[in-house]
Amino acid sequence: MSHSPISILSQVDFNGQPLAEELLMRTFRQLMDEHGYVLMCNVPDRFDPVRFCRAQGTFVPNYTGAVVGDVRPEPGMDDVYHAGNTRPLTPHTEGYDFAIAPPRYIALWCVTPAGGPGGETTLADTRPWVDALSEEERKMLEATDYDWKTTEGVQRLGLDLKTRHPILEDTEDGLIVRFSCNNLLRDDHDPVVEIQERWKAAFDDDHVAIHYHRNDMLVWDNWRLLHARNAFSDRSRHLRRIQIAA
Ligand SMILES: [Fe+2]
Repeated sequence: MSHSPISILSQVDFNGQPLAEELLMRTFRQLMDEHGYVLMCNVPDRFDPVRFCRAQGTFVPNYTGAVVGDVRPEPGMDDVYHAGNTRPLTPHTEGYDFAIAPPRYIALWCVTPAGGPGGETTLADTRPWVDALSEEERKMLEATDYDWKTTEGVQRLGLDLKTRHPILEDTEDGLIVRFSCNNLLRDDHDPVVEIQERWKAAFDDDHVAIHYHRNDMLVWDNWRLLHARNAFSDRSRHLRRIQIAA
């Protein structure tokens, strides 16, 4: 079942005036710490999303090298698992295919919303699921290095990324969760299969669905939350995207 987001920050106040920058940053940080994501709405055209993201940390380039990436249907990509088409994406974290730590935050903002149904970004917090693991499971997920591959879409860009990381990694900056339904390489008898199924079912039950209006900006903690996407049909849907290091 899909839930409405509750961590929503309006960029204009009760008088319809822009929120002071300091207050915006403070409320953003409070909501992020509490929920692990923030949806900013009532975003005026003069808002500078790149400047806002710069205040959150260092940029991590997208696969193409573009720091500000475009998420929209790309020609010749409809037949693969890829963000650049109209198909659904299964729950995952970003950057399990990076040799380094995954980006801490992902920011998406809406240039052109999808007309018609679909196209929501969906999010769920792994924190309660991690807390519910048995001690044995948690140890296994921290101690086992798994092989990961990149998506078919990214392979088609000419990047054949292969990495080896655990699913849970404790760092001094906090716990990193890495997750994929389809790019974590394991055999069908691996004990992680059951945990993948459990978390996929939990995602289906717990997720919030973000329906974008023009200029809306969504930022989430990619070490903590899984994200996915509902399919859509309007090929003019266009988001932009920035990845931010810890
Ligand atoms: Fe993604």
